[in-house]
Amino acid sequence: MPATIALPAELVARIDRVGQSHILAAYDRLTDAERASLLAQLQSLNLEEIPSLIESYVRHKPSFTLPAGLQPAPYFPNNPAASQRSWDQAGARARGLELINSGKVACFTVAGGQGTRLGYDGPKGCYPAGGVSRKPLFQLFAEQIAAWSRRSGHVIPWYIMTSPLNHDATVAFFTRHNFFGLPAESIMCFQQGVMPSFDMTTGRVLMSSPSEIATNPDGHGGSIAALHKSGAITDMKRRGITTLSYFQVDNATVRVIDPAFIGLHSSPADSSAEMSSKMIPKAYPEEKLGLFCSSGGRIEVIEYSDLPMELQRERMPDGSLRFLAGSIAVHVMGVAFVERLATDPAFSLPFHRAEKKVPCIDPATGARIDPAAPNGIKLERFVFDALPLCRASIVYETDRIEEFAPIKNASGVDSPESCTKLQTLRAARWLRSVGIDVPLNDAGEPDCTIEISASTALEPSDLSSARLPRTVPRGSSLVL
Ligand code: UTP
Repeated sequence: MPATIALPAELVARIDRVGQSHILAAYDRLTDAERASLLAQLQSLNLEEIPSLIESYVRHKPSFTLPAGLQPAPYFPNNPAASQRSWDQAGARARGLELINSGKVACFTVAGGQGTRLGYDGPKGCYPAGGVSRKPLFQLFAEQIAAWSRRSGHVIPWYIMTSPLNHDATVAFFTRHNFFGLPAESIMCFQQGVMPSFDMTTGRVLMSSPSEIATNPDGHGGSIAALHKSGAITDMKRRGITTLSYFQVDNATVRVIDPAFIGLHSSPADSSAEMSSKMIPKAYPEEKLGLFCSSGGRIEVIEYSDLPMELQRERMPDGSLRFLAGSIAVHVMGVAFVERLATDPAFSLPFHRAEKKVPCIDPATGARIDPAAPNGIKLERFVFDALPLCRASIVYETDRIEEFAPIKNASGVDSPESCTKLQTLRAARWLRSVGIDVPLNDAGEPDCTIEISASTALEPSDLSSARLPRTVPRGSSLVL
């Protein structure tokens, strides 16, 4: 049957005006279903901003200007008795627990990324990350949420941001696993927006097929708008949620809820921070972590590639790095803050440009192109760019072994292998704290693989009431 959906003349004119007429090159040869899908995709994009995006991010690389008077950001040290800034740990924890126990805290996971570096076939949250159990990342978080829900006497809602590329697969995964025992109605998966990917040389929007524009999720910074647009904020307000515990889907050991961090963020209650962050001390100057800095009294994260290396190498008299505080993308956010930004017509976060390999077609011939080198520009927003918009924001130091075991790459740094090793290091440390011996190899590392599940312990002190072996056999693999 010949296709009947006509091309609106007004749309053709708009696309011509922004120099992207190749998008419609194959329209006459498309089926009605393909035409409808292309028209819907075009409707969802802001065509009019395309020329300025090409000018600013494709034809030119945005230049970075170091803010005047840039300083390392102040932070609450991991050791609350540290002389540089002592703080009331018990008070902060009590305040955090009060919020958790009164049902005001929800978890928020950003899981819309493409996970290209890992190269796993499926949403990254489905990746089997448990060091021994091979439990998927989503299950590791679900078990923590279940344990916190039991303790607080409130079902802790869980908001998960997906993207059009992995939404259906994510929802199907949760359904297939019966929501890992959590009430289905306490989990809300919602989709973030997308941006077109651009040809690096011509600036034209890339096509992934004759009827589809190549797009990429608009970055974890897209979460601010998506939380509002999806109705998640409305849902939070209905449930009385005031505070979000934000984390990324690929950090297997993240504490999905941390009372002391939530307490520091929200004390004193009348001048609570709006968005707060956890940091770890950078291990060495070249480590690729964004750095918490402050300028004009505002906290901001500066990407490691933007901060001059001489500054990153500067040392304090005690030998520690002056710019020390590396971001691990763990935040606490006020629901009111997110809503304030998302409903402000003037609000937008800057784009960051990345050169990537984007499979596409040649619009003239329809031939498939699987590039061997980066051919495309992806534009993403980063959530930490909301930090300077906060009226108040705190940074809290944590310990790498305790809560930073990311899975980014298939091997080497930040890989499944390093993640398993970190889970074992943490478990060994927790076991030793309650007097259980863990065998070490010649390098002084645990000579075993151990995973402590969240139903056994959320923190080391929980182990004192758990049933545990007296010793860990050398070479063993244990889930406790
Ligand atoms: P990364 O920046 O590591 O990107 O995301 P990625 O897409 O997972 O992996 P690569 O770069 O393609 O290999 C950090 C976190 O932000 C989420 C990811 O799901 C991950 O939890 N994210 C990233 C989104 O939710 N949306 C995005 O558009 C990008």
